[in-house]
Amino acid sequence: MRILGIESSCDETGAAIVEDGRIIRANVVASQASIHERYGGVVPEVASRHQLSAIIPVLETALEQAGTRWDDLDAIAVTYGPGLAGSLLVGLTAAKALALARGLPLLGVNHLEAHIYANWLRTEADNAAARPADESSEDWPGDPRFPLLALVISGAHSELVYIPQHGRYELLGQTRDDAAGEAFDKVSRLLGLGYPGGPAIERAAREAGDGKNPYRLPRAWIRDTYDFSFSGLKTAVLQLIEGAQADANGGGERGASRYARKGAEVAEGGSLSVPHIAAAFQEAVVDVLATKTLRAARELGVRQVLLAGGVAANLALRERLTAALAPHDIALRCPPVAFCTDNAAMIAATGYFHLRLGERSGFDLDVRPNLQLPFVVTR
Ligand code: KG4
Ligand code: ZN
Repeated sequence: MRILGIESSCDETGAAIVEDGRIIRANVVASQASIHERYGGVVPEVASRHQLSAIIPVLETALEQAGTRWDDLDAIAVTYGPGLAGSLLVGLTAAKALALARGLPLLGVNHLEAHIYANWLRTEADNAAARPADESSEDWPGDPRFPLLALVISGAHSELVYIPQHGRYELLGQTRDDAAGEAFDKVSRLLGLGYPGGPAIERAAREAGDGKNPYRLPRAWIRDTYDFSFSGLKTAVLQLIEGAQADANGGGERGASRYARKGAEVAEGGSLSVPHIAAAFQEAVVDVLATKTLRAARELGVRQVLLAGGVAANLALRERLTAALAPHDIALRCPPVAFCTDNAAMIAATGYFHLRLGERSGFDLDVRPNLQLPFVVTR
């Protein structure tokens, strides 16, 4: 079964063709990151305008890449939320028009669920051995195995989710303020590292090397819960910078900041070391995410943990979690880096599993900017 996936929830325009919910035949992403970079974040009105100009060329390129004709498609899956209303509208309207014109089933997909289903995708390298002997089989060798725990960490969400079977989600914990990706983006802006913040901070942190880091930033543990909080961390970085600036301007009480003096020891000219702050920030985020995920995985007795969402691209997090879970015989599964951030292949994959359950959407489907995962109590 071949599904065309369309994704336009934020500043990426994606179209992809995925076979049987797993095998990627084409995946095209047009990113606006360079346009929004100068503003330090996504400007919604600008994003929707660019969605509009990108959507047709991206769709055409995906069909061409896959060598697929319209007649070869079995359904169209499209993100209908969460995301920016204006951006979502572009993809959803295109999907409706195409489904209507071609007489194809339409499937509205929850973007967060799609980040989770990115873990079912396979790259070309592992396609060959992919298919099960029994073509009708629900599970393929190499698929994630239920029950699962997923850590969903994107630009707007940070959630620990228990998944006993396809389509059932129980919320264990979530952020009480900033999302993990949002924290990366805000701290990156504070450090002058640009947008998107995640990759920029990861790169800067690598420059700090493995030596001792003079900075240690606070962790919000919110004990006995699986909740997260990242806004205090952002404030700690801000105070560090303000302290250094006050120092540079001739001191004052603020300039006597303990952090700023430590920073002065590291960097030449008395300024702070951006790579070391980036590393300390990343370490604090990774520490909390990994510790809570390990605890939840052990409590629930899952054998596999899924990483999902843009922050799942972070290699320091992947390494730390893999190492933390391994002694307990729990495996970490992550999508290939390119499929962690927004893409349409994950939308097509999710559409496939819904179609198999006999679902399809009506043409009255509307965008849902604040859509959540459909949480239920499963235990
Ligand atoms: O899932 P995504 O592409 O879009 C949303 O659905 O929000 O996630 C984007 C977020 C941004 O906040 C970005 O800074 C973060 O994911 N991100 C990363 C990395 N790559 C992207 N965060 C940490 N490390 C990365 N390598
Ligand atoms: Zn996303």
